[in-house]
Amino acid sequence: MSDSVPVTFNNNVLRDGHQSLAATRMKTEQMLPVCEDLDNCGFGALETWGGATIDSGLRFLDEFPFDRLDALKKACPKTPHMMLLRGQNIVQYAHFPDDVVSSFIKLSAKHGMNIFRIFDALNDPRNMETAIRAAREAGAEAHGTICYTTSPVHTTEKFIELGSRLEAMGATGIVLKDMAGLVPPMRAAAIIAGLKSKVKIPVWMHTHETAGLGAATYMAAIDAGVDAVDLGVIPFANGTGQPDTSRMLALLEGHPRAPKWSSENDERLARVRAHLNKVYAELSDFTSHKNEIVDTDTLIYQVPGGMLSNFRNQLKEQKMEDKFEEVFAEIPVVRKALGWIPLVTPTSQIVGMQAFLNVKFGRWKQISPQAADIALGYYGTTPAPVDKDLQMLAAKQFQKDPITCRPVEAPGSNHKHMDDLKKELTEKGLPNDDEHCVIHAMFPAQLEKHYAPKEAPAPAAAPAPAQQPVQVSAPAAAPASYTSVPGRVTRLSLKIEGKQHDVSIEEL
Ligand code: CO
Repeated sequence: MSDSVPVTFNNNVLRDGHQSLAATRMKTEQMLPVCEDLDNCGFGALETWGGATIDSGLRFLDEFPFDRLDALKKACPKTPHMMLLRGQNIVQYAHFPDDVVSSFIKLSAKHGMNIFRIFDALNDPRNMETAIRAAREAGAEAHGTICYTTSPVHTTEKFIELGSRLEAMGATGIVLKDMAGLVPPMRAAAIIAGLKSKVKIPVWMHTHETAGLGAATYMAAIDAGVDAVDLGVIPFANGTGQPDTSRMLALLEGHPRAPKWSSENDERLARVRAHLNKVYAELSDFTSHKNEIVDTDTLIYQVPGGMLSNFRNQLKEQKMEDKFEEVFAEIPVVRKALGWIPLVTPTSQIVGMQAFLNVKFGRWKQISPQAADIALGYYGTTPAPVDKDLQMLAAKQFQKDPITCRPVEAPGSNHKHMDDLKKELTEKGLPNDDEHCVIHAMFPAQLEKHYAPKEAPAPAAAPAPAQQPVQVSAPAAAPASYTSVPGRVTRLSLKIEGKQHDVSIEEL
């Protein structure tokens, strides 16, 4: 590539922007007014769907996911749409059979999705293969995505090798995904330059401004030849979000790879920003000053920013604030024993929980079922071998054998196929088209709730996957018609991922 080819700007404000800065709570109706302007700025892609938006949209905003995609596609018909997909987990936390993964991707493409950004929390290409194939078959782009992390085994060479492997698997692009904003500029430059010299397909980069490195890292990546970078728009930018578009433009002024950007585009961006300021204020229950600021703690602890804030809350609830440093010191111990897995959904939650359990009860005295599954290979091949003693302990405690096959082919894994899902929906009297089948596969309780009579809502939605009793703020999660009684405690027993959880909801 020539040194003067303009870098492509993507815009992620409608997905990662509000996922990182407003707990994924932006409604479709809050997005629509900015669509025309975003669609006319000449962005390479608009990230509009996927990640946590499908879960959150259904769970908290009562939106059927494909309706949002249809609405955004109609409102942004020119720019390619992009989504984040967790490989075999689709947009959930567990593996799904191949036919469900393929159907989800084909349906999404049919509804207008153009670019599938496919990753796996362990960087195990076997968990990305079906999704890559399905995207190609649907005529869409399949971007093989590398989760960046730091560990003794995550060398620059290893990342480049993974990129080559994903290209050989059929990926049409490679993305370096730095979900925690941890990659320093020179490291990014080395990985991007290495990928550019090894693969023939475009190389994109995704980072966050959490520790204040994002924009500088993009500059280095642009000098190293990256083809496209992901950006946000203030107020859904910077901090735990993507670097904002205006700042990147200013940083690139006079640079040979500066994108072509008209004064009309500045006006468009100003209108987008003005509307998003209003939306940000409307979502004030879910925004936090902590998310907006640059926090270098994430560099010290080498964990995603979200994990830090969750931890502070969790330790506070358990009256273990004084154990903060101890729990964080335990994270590398847990990661090493579990084969240096990256920290991204869902492994960040699993490692965090296990570090917490190790400090609370003594190291490996209590192993969470999810940590055991990682140790036994049920999430895929770990970057380095799992500690043998831990594996034996996990096998004994959970009466499970270690596996080396592709996780979805393991005995006891989810074998609910499309026809089973259709049958279940028919029996429940719910719409049973393929769109509903794939959503039902991932979010059965939420889908049922979506179609339940609205006059008698359940007190609260089920919380995100959790290993511990969870506290849910009922008024925030409940529909508008729900009347809150301060001090009332509701106890629920919830089944999440086949496990029973006891939940107490105290109304505020
Ligand atoms: Co991100």
